[in-house]
Amino acid sequence: MRAIAIFPKEKSIKLIEHEAPHITSPTQVKLRMLEVGVCGTDKEICTFRFGAPPPGYNYLVLGHEALGEVVEVGTGVQRLKPGDLVIPTVRRPCSDSNCRACAVARQDFCFTGEYTEYGIKSQHGYMTEFVVDDEQFMHPVPQELRNVAVLTEPLTIAEKALLQVWAMQQRLPWQMPDAPADQPGKGLKAVVLGAGPISLLGSMALIVAGFDTYVYSRSVPPHPKAELVQSIGATYISSKTTSVEDMVKQVGNIDLVYEGLGGSTLPFEVMNHLGRNAIFAFTGVPTFTTSTQATDQLMSRLVGKNQVVFGTVNAGNDAFAAAIRDLHIFTQRWPAAVRSLISQRVSMENAQDALLGKYGGIKTVVTIAE
Ligand SMILES: NC(=O)c1ccc[n+]([C@@H]2O[C@H](COP(=O)([O-])OP(=O)(O)OC[C@H]3O[C@@H](n4cnc5c(N)ncnc54)[C@H](OP(=O)(O)O)[C@@H]3O)[C@@H](O)[C@H]2O)c1
Ligand SMILES: [Zn+2]
Ligand SMILES: [Zn+2]
Repeated sequence: MRAIAIFPKEKSIKLIEHEAPHITSPTQVKLRMLEVGVCGTDKEICTFRFGAPPPGYNYLVLGHEALGEVVEVGTGVQRLKPGDLVIPTVRRPCSDSNCRACAVARQDFCFTGEYTEYGIKSQHGYMTEFVVDDEQFMHPVPQELRNVAVLTEPLTIAEKALLQVWAMQQRLPWQMPDAPADQPGKGLKAVVLGAGPISLLGSMALIVAGFDTYVYSRSVPPHPKAELVQSIGATYISSKTTSVEDMVKQVGNIDLVYEGLGGSTLPFEVMNHLGRNAIFAFTGVPTFTTSTQATDQLMSRLVGKNQVVFGTVNAGNDAFAAAIRDLHIFTQRWPAAVRSLISQRVSMENAQDALLGKYGGIKTVVTIAE
């Protein structure tokens, strides 16, 4: 069967023939891969700075943002049947029995760093026609999400961040007046940094959670990203035309910053203006060295204003469930905006161009099967 793979030693990306998998244990399911999203991580892997083939292979099949259809199930499979749509989990537990996180299926918090990741680290990914995998790592999605379900995995990044925000803000022994249980952010202001898929999906999740949401990013309106932001009810502010100080004046007390841009210079500048009792969530992975301003002043503000700064990576089962629930809400509230997050769909023959970043837009998806 066909697959898109990188060969790190020879520094090449190829459409290859890869052995077809078969069910070998009762709890496994066989998936026909339908779509795989391309993200910054894939593009980074294609510069050969990281990305590790599984033991015994000289290549790594790419792809981790996947949507598959169950075509066959092992005799012990309980929850899934042929025809079901599923999102597979990316990260898999380490083998260290002392790892408390992996022992309770929270490999997104793995202590050892010895976890594996499909399409990234020591496990072949999903840019291929069929995959066999254990039922426990599958997240079923309703058929009506077929066209956008490939956005679930990138949405889990924001969902995990939000789950942690709620847990951390339990330090505050009051609730926002008039905030309904399903809109705990009502009356609060969130600033999202960046306007890529991680930030845009995060903005949608913040709005659904009730936050008055501002997106602060580089593109200067008129721009499709700014229009998308406005169409979901958030406010777009360009960092090119509005200084951090002026952005803060416009927003007022910032209760939450959700960073999804990657570099650290702008986030640290914004951190200097974090509001009282506020929280700052980092998801970006800087790919280049930027100056940091972890200064004494910043420290004294963090302390004096009871602020929380945290980083978050990957996602657990609770975030996958929240992502599927919210994607449903997004498609009902903003059908056009959600569809427009997928800027183009390309064939496997054109996947290399997508991985090398030759398509613009927000999110490119590789179609494996119709
Ligand atoms: N924590 C995790 O588990 C996890 C998972 C996946 C991804 N990530 C990370 O999340 C980050 C965002 O991912 P993505 O796929 O959404 O990336 P992306 O498509 O590259 O989007 C980055 C956004 O940030 C904006 N930006 C970049 N530099 C800027 C600057 N100096 N000032 C203002 N805006 C700036 C870009 O503006 P333009 O629109 O003008 O280009 C773009 O909108 C990446 O660092 C990625 O590695 C983390
Ligand atoms: Zn990704
Ligand atoms: Zn572990």
